[in-house]
Amino acid sequence: MFQLLKNDPKTKARLGRLTTDHGTIETPIFMPVGTLATVKAVEQQQLKDQVKAQIILGNTYHLYLRPGNGIMREAGGLHQFMKWDKPILTDSGGYQVFSLSDNRKLEERGVTFKSHLDGSKHQFTPESVIETERILGSDIMMVLDECPPYPSTYEYALNSMHLTHRWAARCKKAFDESEPLYGHRQFLFGIAQGSTYKDLRNASAEAIAALDFDGNAIGGLSVGEPNELMYEMTDHITDYLPPHKARYLMGVGTPADLLNGVARGVDMFDCVMPTRNARNGTVFTRNGIVNLRNAKWKNHHKPLDEDFPSDFCSKYTMAYLHHLVRCNEILGMTLASLQNLTFYLWLMEEVRRNLAEGTFADWYLPMIEKVKTRL
Ligand code: GUN
Repeated sequence: MFQLLKNDPKTKARLGRLTTDHGTIETPIFMPVGTLATVKAVEQQQLKDQVKAQIILGNTYHLYLRPGNGIMREAGGLHQFMKWDKPILTDSGGYQVFSLSDNRKLEERGVTFKSHLDGSKHQFTPESVIETERILGSDIMMVLDECPPYPSTYEYALNSMHLTHRWAARCKKAFDESEPLYGHRQFLFGIAQGSTYKDLRNASAEAIAALDFDGNAIGGLSVGEPNELMYEMTDHITDYLPPHKARYLMGVGTPADLLNGVARGVDMFDCVMPTRNARNGTVFTRNGIVNLRNAKWKNHHKPLDEDFPSDFCSKYTMAYLHHLVRCNEILGMTLASLQNLTFYLWLMEEVRRNLAEGTFADWYLPMIEKVKTRL
């Protein structure tokens, strides 16, 4: 499903293409997060026309709890349910079980947890997660894993990694023994773990690669470790992942993290940051990061960046956007979310253009400084 089109000669960046039955995805790519069958505050048509999203995320943990597998099956899967006809990737829920639910109990068979919504008890096993992802009908399914916290002891990270590998093998088996429900192909990605220990990271990359998934993800990063450590681990692990398959760095990150990840050989990213920060009034632009709540924008009666293809930047004045955010108006959240996602997708398009033209190595470091600037 992944075609490697070009290796950058000076960095580890790659240009590629993922092919699914809901369309092709040009990589490197950022995937907007639509946890609960909606990318918060943004309508599906806007995601297509304005943001130019190529693929979005859904979440197995959240959608399993609400609306639940019965309704999702009746609806004909997530694409039909939310009327999104482009590719969807679903995370397995492993990460959310560990970050959101109470009283979780980890066993060889799977993880038992209490719902963060109503305290009801549930169990996820590698097999049940594959079944739920078949019902969701995502184009790319993720295996069930355990994401160890940062910091973790070596012993904890080692045992957790081995459990993740055994679960990955069970997911692969359940995947191979089941069929898609809605007539389009589904692919399965593995997730390598190993915390912040380099020897565990290569062991995990090799063990996951040996299971021959359609693509490979790097999990367990951006969980509170210093940025430099995340970059170091990413750089290390991509040396051990097969080059002919897509690499997905889960839950990352800021615009600077994306550029750093691409230069270290990553093809796919997702993060709640652009939408979550937008709802708090933090906005990413070509010139840097804006805190819309800051009083300096109160009487700035001009748009921020007239040449950028978003209403946020080119149509509305900063005074108006500041007012909307100060008043907690829904439109402020929508405009800021659209801006952040449009910016993230624009940035990845620039990455691909520079890779195609052979200018990536010279372009990305100054760009990192630019996107980190606070306006
Ligand atoms: N999202 C961010 N990090 C992770 C991870 O380690 N595992 C999973 N399943 N999802 C993630």
